[in-house]
Amino acid sequence: MADCPSTRIGVAGYGYWGSKHVRVLTSLSGVEVTVIEPDEERRRRARADHPGVGVVRDLDDMLDGLDGVVVVTPPATHARLALKALAAKVPTLVEKPLVLLEEDGVAVVEAARAAGVQLMVGHVFAYDAAVRKLRDVIASGELGRVLHIDCARLSLGRYRQDCDVVWDLAPHDISIVAHLLGELPATVSAWTHRAVRAAHADVAHLRLDFAEAGVPAFVHVSWLAPEKVRRITVVGEKKTAVYDDLAGDERLTIHDVGVELPDGDGGTDAGCRVVHRSGDIVSRPVPGAEPLMVQDAHFVDCVRAGTSPATPGEQGLAVVRVLAAADRAASTGTPAAVPRRRTAAGTEWGRRSVEVAS
Ligand SMILES: NC(=O)c1ccc[n+]([C@@H]2O[C@H](COP(=O)([O-])OP(=O)(O)OC[C@H]3O[C@@H](n4cnc5c(N)ncnc54)[C@H](O)[C@@H]3O)[C@@H](O)[C@H]2O)c1
Repeated sequence: MADCPSTRIGVAGYGYWGSKHVRVLTSLSGVEVTVIEPDEERRRRARADHPGVGVVRDLDDMLDGLDGVVVVTPPATHARLALKALAAKVPTLVEKPLVLLEEDGVAVVEAARAAGVQLMVGHVFAYDAAVRKLRDVIASGELGRVLHIDCARLSLGRYRQDCDVVWDLAPHDISIVAHLLGELPATVSAWTHRAVRAAHADVAHLRLDFAEAGVPAFVHVSWLAPEKVRRITVVGEKKTAVYDDLAGDERLTIHDVGVELPDGDGGTDAGCRVVHRSGDIVSRPVPGAEPLMVQDAHFVDCVRAGTSPATPGEQGLAVVRVLAAADRAASTGTPAAVPRRRTAAGTEWGRRSVEVAS
């Protein structure tokens, strides 16, 4: 690569999200982008949107000439494409969810290790300055002891063919909360509903229980809500933090509100009385770069330097294990344990994942 003038990145899939990857990658200096897309109309659109980029039909036509691949195709195709790229020793960034089956995730992670190339998962919120700031706010003790976390990711969604709303949207909330608390949930409970199609749930509620932090996180995901909501609320004993992804630079606010037990109650709950506290709401501005831009620039840096990504494939696999536990919980109606795995690198979830400069 030393005598290669630019870093050659292939983007597999020029659909809704792949077109955004192409937009950010083409804006990075020294990056040459090739779109890989089987659909003729989408190839035509890619050429029209980006006259400078190469456009091909199949990943096989391109693998020899790539320094890295971004897989932004339907989730059911992720494992096959990633295994193909890794077998050719091409560093690979795979969009969330990493795969749809745990065994495929194990195979993809093992393939990357065997090939000695980087496998990164697109947990884009790990690259959002607001998530890093929120984690710092929690760690600083400003909120006091965290009592619970509430996540809502709702809209009139794009119904997917190959997975349900949990696998489509909850990877974001699972990875965000894991970054905030620095651990994976130990158990998952899930309630799902198939409102429109028989094949896949379009509305779901999850409860994730975190053993070390000792707090639950509740996750509501829906493709069937009239209003778009992207919100994480961290309720603490002293204050509450609200991360509203739709609020631009003001997406992180700290609310000096809460309830306390009256003096002398001693937690016995006598009379169920509480004292309400209502103070200021303060915005913590988080300008920062577009998270997708930070993520893809980080992938290109890792490709160039041969370094490990901040969101490695193991984290993608860890989230897949949580999603698989949610499936078990939904079908049995009882909480499901998330199997713990130690990897060659140590824990599945490390703090480093949010230390990327933006
Ligand atoms: N991080 C995020 O916020 C975010 C947001 C949206 C989607 N996504 C993820 O991005 C991925 C794609 O989602 P989307 O909404 O863009 O889907 P989409 O259906 O709009 O686009 C997928 C594209 O992949 C193409 N494709 C299918 N098989 C292919 C193959 N073998 N090689 C190359 N291209 C192929 C399809 O023709 C299509 O153009 C999914 O994994 C999704 O979960 C992530």
